[in-house]
Amino acid sequence: MLSQFPELENFLPCKSPQAWVDWALENQTLMLIDHAHCEKKAASTAMNLLYRYVDRDALLHKMSQLAREELLHFEQVHKIMRNRGITYDHLGASRYADGLRKHIRTHEPARLIDILIIGAFVEARSCERFAVLAPHLDDELKKFYLSLLKSEARHFEDYLALAQEYAGENIDDRIQFFREIEQKLIEEPDTEFRIHSGPPTSANR
Ligand SMILES: [Fe+2]
Ligand SMILES: [Fe+2]
Repeated sequence: MLSQFPELENFLPCKSPQAWVDWALENQTLMLIDHAHCEKKAASTAMNLLYRYVDRDALLHKMSQLAREELLHFEQVHKIMRNRGITYDHLGASRYADGLRKHIRTHEPARLIDILIIGAFVEARSCERFAVLAPHLDDELKKFYLSLLKSEARHFEDYLALAQEYAGENIDDRIQFFREIEQKLIEEPDTEFRIHSGPPTSANR
């Protein structure tokens, strides 16, 4: 399924561990609640970029479009939750986003480039996870998760293209730096299940 997006597949350092997939399937209520948070956070990341980089034309256009799409995804997850009687609740963030964001450089344009590269990883990983989960879900969720693949893959492409455009130099080394961190965050065990968590520690099974 992910083979429809070879560039995205090559960009990610690894596949999601099977133990994470099993964990997700055992925790589908939590999966939907965290998914709703993720869509909202994705919209808010794009909004923050819109506020901060008002002089970057391509960014303004792409991020405005992206924020609208993520909010639409939020409404779609929220509707499914409401129909299933799932209460939307606060959740602690997973270590994934912070684990990547703490490496953002503080000077410009390096800061912007890092945020855009991280955006590309978050979108690519979300797409990969929706693709591995979809075949195991009930019809409604399967259809919904498959419907998200195309837009999350496009978001990945947009972030990566913006990072390349604004860096004005080769960013392969910086991508590789974040790729190694991303792999650790995806493969090392986590205490709580999240859309972007690692597999469970043995104590959590
Ligand atoms: Fe989304
Ligand atoms: Fe997205």
